[in-house]
Amino acid sequence: MRAEALAAQGYCIEDEFLDAAEVEALLECLYLRRDRGEFASAAIGAGRSLQQRPAVRGDATCWLKEPIEAAERALLQRLENLRLELNRTLFLGLLDIEVHYASYPPGARYVRHVDQPQGRNQRQLSLVLYLNPDWNELDGGELKLYESDGRCHEVVPKGGRLVLFRTEGREHEVLAARRERLSLTGWFRVRSA
Ligand code: OGA
Ligand code: MN
Repeated sequence: MRAEALAAQGYCIEDEFLDAAEVEALLECLYLRRDRGEFASAAIGAGRSLQQRPAVRGDATCWLKEPIEAAERALLQRLENLRLELNRTLFLGLLDIEVHYASYPPGARYVRHVDQPQGRNQRQLSLVLYLNPDWNELDGGELKLYESDGRCHEVVPKGGRLVLFRTEGREHEVLAARRERLSLTGWFRVRSA
């Protein structure tokens, strides 16, 4: 199902990948890390040209680093199973995953971009998991996935929802929300060429 959608359209959306209790537990981890000061304003670009441009990208992020909490460990195990499933069904050769939390304050956005700004790299599949219980469509904050012909698909960042898309060449954008918008974002990676 996931594999078919990914192969056919280059993305897939799955509701309730996380149940309400799992979303709640991961939110607790997010708040714990935020209280410990682990979040930093996100930057764009790479290497020496890394810069903060809040009008372009307004979120703050925090990598899932040690100490890993129990709910995070459980999630990483599920993502590991997902990695193996995708390798089995799509022969992607995914090696590992990197994951960070992201928090967008009200009004913050991330303009249209691709996740591989320097062309091909190790990131093969992008993953987003939303941590917003009771999200209302009027709250905004949609993820817009663009097709090469200019059409686009808008995804509401509902708690528990999983989005997977092939990283290479896939332009996408995060629209501003009127509430804080919380998520986990990750990339399944292959060995560097
Ligand atoms: C990103 C991104 C999408 C989303 O972090 O690169 O595009 O819906 N996130 O949060
Ligand atoms: Mn992105």
